[in-house]
Amino acid sequence: MSKHHYVYGNWKMNHGPAKAAEVLSELEPVTEKLSHTTVGIAAPAVSLPKALELTTASALKVGSQNVHWEESGAFTGEISVGMLQEIGCDFTLTGHSERRHIFGETDQMIAKRTIAGLSKNLEVVFCVGELLEEREAGKTTEVLQTQIGALLPELTAELSKNMIIAYEPVWAIGTGKVAGAEEILQAHKDIVDYWAEVSDAPCPPILYGGSVSPDNFAEIIRLDNVSGALVGGASLVAEKFSKLIAISEEA
Ligand code: PGA
Repeated sequence: MSKHHYVYGNWKMNHGPAKAAEVLSELEPVTEKLSHTTVGIAAPAVSLPKALELTTASALKVGSQNVHWEESGAFTGEISVGMLQEIGCDFTLTGHSERRHIFGETDQMIAKRTIAGLSKNLEVVFCVGELLEEREAGKTTEVLQTQIGALLPELTAELSKNMIIAYEPVWAIGTGKVAGAEEILQAHKDIVDYWAEVSDAPCPPILYGGSVSPDNFAEIIRLDNVSGALVGGASLVAEKFSKLIAISEEA
């Protein structure tokens, strides 16, 4: 039996409700007959209600790109777990590199967001990854351990069941410069090894992200410890995203 895969799109700040509806309707035939792939789209907040309405009968999961740790209050611009669940969201991303590096979110903030989602049974795709200068300084393993380590004080085995890890080297995101097979294998192994050291629970599925496209995904999905992809640019166009889903289903 084929291993279970995950192909998740991150639309970032693209696709308002009208465009979201268009792309999701084009994806419908593809997501109707999945055998071993879970497909998800992290849509901008304003497009979530429309996306959820259009996918009620579909296996496609719809999620948010971030979530706050408090239930309500004076947190302008933020959305709580309860609000996402009220409209029926299936998951959220946390710790995306753009949140870390453009908006200055710290490991501690990201840990609070992640634990808040998991504690309320919201699936969390927790993103980690090193900057180019960190890789060049030989610090990739240390960075991954620090980012995951920030979760540990509160991450129980039970909570980790609802978590997916996305390894996204920052230098490969949106650059067209996909990480090489060796780099992906090593980083995913680093995560698996670290997880075994710090947790009794099974390691969550680990997705690769960073310039994934129909041209490189067939190789990536077959690598050890790779359970799928978190896809930015190629998830915006139904035709490309459908090809990624097909590649996952064939692998
Ligand atoms: P990309 O983005 O596929 O456009 O490189 C990946 C991501 O940011 O999740």
